[in-house]
Amino acid sequence: CGSCSVLLDGVLVCSCLVLAAQADGHVVETVEGLAAEGELHPVQAALIEAGGVQCGFCTPGFAVVAADLLRRSPSPTDDEMREALSGNLCRCTGYAKIIEAVRACAR
Ligand code: FES
Repeated sequence: CGSCSVLLDGVLVCSCLVLAAQADGHVVETVEGLAAEGELHPVQAALIEAGGVQCGFCTPGFAVVAADLLRRSPSPTDDEMREALSGNLCRCTGYAKIIEAVRACAR
């Protein structure tokens, strides 16, 4: 569902598909790592502002994936955003507000 998306040595992975032993000795970045010094990452703030968070179950995964996308491609098209987020499921928002949040963070 993508909710457990993390970066393993800078590469996006679903953590549920990675054995703990495979992560041993590697750098794992979770959603908690996005918020530097207690400040929300712009993607996290935009998700809140746009109403892209309802139950919140999917939100960590969307935040990690969107931040990774914007790091690699600061000005993604809507199609690029949809493709990047296509591995993440949300049962609540209908995706429009999530895309709106990512669009707000794009240059
Ligand atoms: Fe509930 Fe996405 S906000 S699953």
